[in-house]
This record gives sequence, structure tokens and C-alpha cells, in this order.
Amino acid sequence: MSKFFKKITIIKPDDWHVHLRENTMLSKVINYTGIFYERAIIMPNLENPIINCKQSINYRKQILQAQSNHVKFQPLMTCYLTDFTKSKELEIGFNKKIFIAAKLYPKNSTTNSQIGIKNINNIYSILEIMEKIGMPLLIHGEETDHNIDIYDREAKFLETTLEPIQKKFPSLKIVLEHITTKESVDYVIERNSPYLAATITPHHLILNRNHMFENGINPYLYCLPILKRKIHQTALRNAISSGNKSFFLGSDTAPHYYKNKINITGCAGIFNAPSSLLIYATVFEEMQALQHFQSFCSENGPKFYNLPINEKTITLIRKPHKIIDQIKIGKNTIIPFLAGQILNWSIDI
Ligand code: DOR
Ligand code: ZN
Repeated sequence: MSKFFKKITIIKPDDWHVHLRENTMLSKVINYTGIFYERAIIMPNLENPIINCKQSINYRKQILQAQSNHVKFQPLMTCYLTDFTKSKELEIGFNKKIFIAAKLYPKNSTTNSQIGIKNINNIYSILEIMEKIGMPLLIHGEETDHNIDIYDREAKFLETTLEPIQKKFPSLKIVLEHITTKESVDYVIERNSPYLAATITPHHLILNRNHMFENGINPYLYCLPILKRKIHQTALRNAISSGNKSFFLGSDTAPHYYKNKINITGCAGIFNAPSSLLIYATVFEEMQALQHFQSFCSENGPKFYNLPINEKTITLIRKPHKIIDQIKIGKNTIIPFLAGQILNWSIDI
């Protein structure tokens, strides 16, 4: 039926998981988020992570200055949790709306996570305060023990870390970020709790681990959590097309320079801001679930975060749209996800 749709108009979406970086890179990537999204949750894993209110205020200013007038969005800031985070700092930051949430990176789980949490028990007193004040905890949910197979780290995290947190802090609001496995999908559905939600990225919806090795190794598809088997991709696609309100949009757009992606040790991260919303539209259409597209993009997130639903709308039209080949930054380049490829949906400006 959906092939007869020529246009889709939905409430303007928000992106609940974005990496913008800093300085020149920030200024070159920021508008791609602003074109599609009204608000964005900004990840704090800068080289010098955002661990207090002062840094967050400065970073937010930098973001606002980098925005162009015609594509402004509202940045919602997060605090990077460390073993030394002070609960007072979080509480003040949350009450003054400097922070919308705090981010838990297990130590050495991903980009700039060296000062992440070594042992979850170290921050139980912080989680207690967060539960009390209603501050959401955003989780990069992977175990980091190198004896655990990389493909099993997310599933293991559910048992070893998430389950105990949820038992101890039943009304702590948690977003399991960028879920990649059937286990996580099932966990969130079974919980069926207003305190637990999950974001799903466009790349995990359209790719599985085979894609990383098609016609040679594809370092540009390396992200964390790593792409999984097709059964997991299918579970994610079924989750969003079921209309379940516990899942919402979080692109995890994560730009890196070409020289850092194509390297002896390449960085994890996929810069999908130029295509994210168009990919989500394509997947919902393929799943014949466009009736749930708006709630995933624009309603479930604000409901979870107790924020108003946006008033503006956005219209996508069925018209071929070519994703830019690259973004030049001095001598460096960023290659976006699906660079040069043609998508079926365009934004109607
Ligand atoms: O692929 C990823 N890239 N996963 C993350 O968790 C972090 C991100 C980044 O900051 O580059
Ligand atoms: Zn991320």
C-alpha cells in the first residue's frame, strides 16, 4: 500500500543521540542535524569529556554559535559519568536544566571512554540521587571484559549490569542506547516499563555483520556496538514496526576524519546525519509500518523525557536524493554514511 504514498508529513522529529564533536568539525557537521531535527541530545564524549556544569555551558555555547540561522535545533546536554562524579554537580545541573541526562560509558567501551566507569558499584550513590530527582541515565550497554566475545558484550551487559541496576533502582529512568541485539529488544519489551526505553540507529536497521565484510573489509561500517547477525537486525526492524512506545529515534551519528577511520586501528562511528531520517523512512516503508513512523521519530522520545511534542512538521517526498560524497575540512575529509548513494526519500523544503 505504501508505494502510493508520495509524501509523508510528520511532527518534526528529535534525534536523541548525536555526536557533534568540537571546533571545525562541529561547524561542518552541525547543519546536517539541524535540517531534519528540532532537538538533539548531545553526547559528552569529547576528547576532553563534559563532566561538569561549567564545561557543558561552554560546549552548549559553542554549539549555538556554530549553528546557521535557517537550521537551528535545540541542543540538550548530557553529563559524562566518571568514578569521581559528584552527585551535587549532577543535581544542580539537572535542576538548572544544564543537563537533561547523564551518560554511562563503561571504561574503554568506545570512543573517548578512558575515564568511563570501571565498576558500576562505584556510582550506586549517584544512581540513587538520579532516581530520586528523575534524571535519566543513558547507557552504552556493553561489557568490556576482553574475554567476552565482542558479539556477546551487549547481551552480557543486560544480565551483569543492567539487571542489577534495575533491581536496585526500579524507578531510575534508563535509556539503553543504540541497541543492536534481539536480547535487548526482548528485554525492553518484556520490561514494558515507563522507566526503560531504547534508541535504535538507522545503520543497525539496514545492516548486519555480513555487510562489514562484503567485497573486502569495510572500515566505514565499523561502529560500536558492532553490527550483529541478521536475526538481530530483523529483531530491531520488527521492534520499530510494531509501534512499541519504548523505542525511539537516536541516530548515533558519529563523525570521524577519513584518516582516523582508515588507519591501522580505525575509529568506531558512522556519520549518518545527512541520511538518518531518510533511512528510517525507508525502513518503515519496507516494513509497511509507516503508521508508526511519527511515534518513533517524534512522540515516544519526548514522552519518555517529559518534554513537549514539537509543534512544527516536516514533509518527506518520494524523490531521489543523493547523499553527499564527502565533507572537506582543510586537508581532512569526512565521508558520510551511504556517500554518493541515492535514497528514495527527500526532504520537502
Ligand atoms: O560507533 C560509535 N561511535 N559508538 C559509540 O559508542 C561512540 C561513537 C563515537 O563517539 O565515535
Ligand atoms: Zn554514541
